[in-house]
Amino acid sequence: MSAILLRLMLALPFMLLISPKSEEQVKQWCIADEQFPDGVLQESMDWVCGAGGANCTNIQMNQPCYYPNTVKDHASYAFNSYYQKNKGGACNFKGAAMITEFDPSYNSCHYEYTP
Ligand SMILES: *[C@@H]1O[C@H](CO)[C@@H](O)[C@H](O)[C@H]1NC(C)=O
Repeated sequence: MSAILLRLMLALPFMLLISPKSEEQVKQWCIADEQFPDGVLQESMDWVCGAGGANCTNIQMNQPCYYPNTVKDHASYAFNSYYQKNKGGACNFKGAAMITEFDPSYNSCHYEYTP
């Protein structure tokens, strides 16, 4: 038996133990990987808010997700909006995006979620 398979079998009981919600659908959001340079994120954000069709209203000035006013935060919101509208599509953006299972919403800034 391969080592990887063996390891998976050993890990399985623990995975079941620590995930009481295993029968519910796990919610996922798509956010910017903060290790990426702002320039790369900005480029993807420009696309996703334009041709990509994401709803970027909330990250405009005077909107609930404007603060913190950083490229990373705005890109996260935009990537997620695109991802939720295109479920089944990848959360990638040239490798600058990643999946999270923690709702990134804060205060009155609500990150979209589509089951
Ligand atoms: C975009 O988001 C804003 C704020 O949530 C909402 O009011 C608006 O209806 C949305 N626009 C579209 C096209 O979905």
